[in-house]
Amino acid sequence: MTEQQDRKRIIVALDCNSMDQALSLVDSLDPALCRVKVGKELFTACGPDLITAIKQREFDIFLDLKFHDIPNTVAKAVAVAAEMGVWMVNVHASGGHAMMEAAAKELDAFTDNRPLLIAVTVLTSLSEEDLLSIGIERSPEEQVSKLAFLAKESGMDGVVCSAAETHLLRAQIPDNFCLVTPGIRRPEDASGDQKRVVGPAEAVQNGSDYLVVGRPITQAASPVEALKQFNLAIAGIG
Ligand code: C5P
Repeated sequence: MTEQQDRKRIIVALDCNSMDQALSLVDSLDPALCRVKVGKELFTACGPDLITAIKQREFDIFLDLKFHDIPNTVAKAVAVAAEMGVWMVNVHASGGHAMMEAAAKELDAFTDNRPLLIAVTVLTSLSEEDLLSIGIERSPEEQVSKLAFLAKESGMDGVVCSAAETHLLRAQIPDNFCLVTPGIRRPEDASGDQKRVVGPAEAVQNGSDYLVVGRPITQAASPVEALKQFNLAIAGIG
């Protein structure tokens, strides 16, 4: 990682549903100190106009739409995301090798402005029982590892994984494969609906490259102050 990237490991999740809310949050942050994530709710509400407005404010955007469809459809969707100028976009690894490979190949046309292409392995909301019910007879950890290897082989730049499992994946997968991890909390933060949380410094020590942080920053009295504390916690690590 370059020094500039190092200073911007935090990706703030803009989890809201209107342009006004999203932009007022973005305007309370600093593009030199973080990147931002736009997910399904916000993108469905606001569409590409929001991406344009955030880019005008010089923030890098992770478009978290988790594409999962036939290879041609996913490849075309990631190309549109690249044309919009997002920094990171993602697909579901369970869409399979051909789908991921088609998406990666489609992005070869974008040289200078190629977004990072990331795969979601197993949603952290799924238990071993849930996996069994869809015919997967492996533990979530084994399935995460299997899909992470498939993602690597298929040309993905990295995976989204639980911060609690990063150290296992990092031990198996090369350093240049990005690990993007949600579920990050400082000791003073409420965990909310996150079941297993990890501190920012520990997440980086365990091998996370990018930390997705929502409520501890977005609900803070001063989001930029909370962001600075997160950055301070990880300064000098990794
Ligand atoms: O507010 P909080 O820090 O829990 O937000 C975490 C963000 O990361 C949310 O946008 C959530 O949807 C996302 N996420 C997650 N767990 C995953 C994948 C994504 O919390 N496994």
